[in-house]
Amino acid sequence: MAELIKELMPQHVAVIMDGNGRWAKRRGVPRVAGHRAGMESMKKIVDHSDKLGIKYLTVYAFSTENWKRSMEEVSGIFKLLVTFVNRDLRELIDNNVRVRILGDYSTIPEDSRRALEKTLRDTEKNDGLQFNIALNYGARDEILRSVRGIADRVKAGELEPGEITEETIAEGLWTGSTFADCPDPELIIRTSGEERLSNFLLWQGAYSEFVFHDALWPDFKPEDFEDCIAEYQSRDRRFGGRK
Ligand code: FPP
Repeated sequence: MAELIKELMPQHVAVIMDGNGRWAKRRGVPRVAGHRAGMESMKKIVDHSDKLGIKYLTVYAFSTENWKRSMEEVSGIFKLLVTFVNRDLRELIDNNVRVRILGDYSTIPEDSRRALEKTLRDTEKNDGLQFNIALNYGARDEILRSVRGIADRVKAGELEPGEITEETIAEGLWTGSTFADCPDPELIIRTSGEERLSNFLLWQGAYSEFVFHDALWPDFKPEDFEDCIAEYQSRDRRFGGRK
């Protein structure tokens, strides 16, 4: 297993949990079974992030584009969300994990929304691992919302166009408004061998390191997660400057 350097541990790791569908197809089981296995994988990575002392973990659970999937799959994913929060809420609370949502979850099925809101409330005072679930999330949609908010303030005469800064835009993003304390992710991991960002954290990922891992998400183990962090720790981050 990879040797990790404590001082170089990323504060914020974001994960695109890809490959549930292919995992299911290979086994000849329904896609939802792949998502169920993916949920177990997610739980292990939450626990492991906490163990490693990572402060923020953000996972891409459902994108604004995922509504195009079959009704069966979409409702299956939301049912799993309820299973996850109901089954693991006590443990999340005991482990001092705080759950937060990135994205407009007002449009998700009512029972899922209620279960989620209970989880957000019950973990709101926890100051250990901050576990962010991107749900009905799209980065372009997020930027668009921020820009609209700024346009409204300009129109109302509260803000001059020349006063708009990168911070003004960042403050209007889910990461800025819902949790202002959340730093940009130093590391974004995508599983299943695909190498794209798929509308995830476009603004916040400007200087993130990307690590692509071949394992399908349900097969992705804490050891693989550590390998990705080791890969990140071996990178030379310059932020456009020179050493
Ligand atoms: C991508 O795999 C995965 C998703 C769209 C859903 C992620 C959901 C979970 C991990 C489980 C549920 C947990 C919560 C919190 C809702 P894919 O289906 O695109 O895989 P494929 O590319 O192989 O088809």
